[in-house]
Amino acid sequence: MKKNVYITRQIPEAGVDLLKEKYRVEIFPENRPISRDLLLKEIRDCDALVCLLSDNIDEEILASSKKLKIVANFAVGYNNIDIAAAKKYGIMVTNTPGVLTNATAEMAFALLIVLTRKILEADRFTRSGRFSGWDPLLLLGDELKGKNLGIIGMGRIGQEMALKCRAFGMNIIYHNRKPVDQETEKRLSASYASLDKLIQQSDAISIHTPLNDETYHLVNEQTFEQMKPGIYLVNTSRGEVIDEKALVHALKAGKIKGAGLDVYEFEPEISHELMGMSNVVLLPHIGSATKETRSRMSEMVAKNVIAALEGNVPHNLIP
Ligand code: DGY
Repeated sequence: MKKNVYITRQIPEAGVDLLKEKYRVEIFPENRPISRDLLLKEIRDCDALVCLLSDNIDEEILASSKKLKIVANFAVGYNNIDIAAAKKYGIMVTNTPGVLTNATAEMAFALLIVLTRKILEADRFTRSGRFSGWDPLLLLGDELKGKNLGIIGMGRIGQEMALKCRAFGMNIIYHNRKPVDQETEKRLSASYASLDKLIQQSDAISIHTPLNDETYHLVNEQTFEQMKPGIYLVNTSRGEVIDEKALVHALKAGKIKGAGLDVYEFEPEISHELMGMSNVVLLPHIGSATKETRSRMSEMVAKNVIAALEGNVPHNLIP
């Protein structure tokens, strides 16, 4: 009898086709998050679950499965899954590292340059019919060259962001749980700093750390107080790393010159104050949203499922 794979949302075909060659595949047909009740029902009879970062896979969900072998997350971040509970029930968990590094770093860089050169403000200005000729003082931004970029979280995406910003002449300082090896530091021309030093010295900060107990509200009211006035902040990792209320406060006080956000503390809810600020760029969590990347993520998820269901160790098993 064919094994059952359940996918909680339509994902690119590449991986779905691979799965359909071997298993009975069912996909939640609507373009919205699956309800908890339906997920609880569906998981009971499935051998593999492919889920999204917006699906909360907690102990109750995992405990209600009878034969589930693997939860394959369609994301690199896996803070939506209770890893300890999965271990307790002998269920493997996988993610999709590597394939979304460039796309996410490109988006972080895009947010940085859009903010510093006021690109969205300029677009709104032009469209509103206010462009009445060249003006020496119009929409003056800040150059990246020679400025200090602080990278919090120097994993794959942080490193790719460092390379991109280095190419634009920025000085890179970073903070990570532990420093990267010297060869990598040299390749990126990046130097390690304590979190306090990074916060005090940066002209712009980009966040690339995973969300866990240590990084929840890592950027908070005290952090904003330590920052140089007028810095830029970019977040493409997880919203909960920043205390959003404190961010709103810092923006209102002019402490932060601009913020580029792809993720939010209470996603998909966004603080209404942020919505009204012209120096804030708000994206709908699309850091990895390129055709190439999403297709590779889909294939990766499928290969992880196939490995687990065929009795092998998936390549991207979370330890
Ligand atoms: C991830 O994979 O964790 C991103 O947030 C979405 O691609």
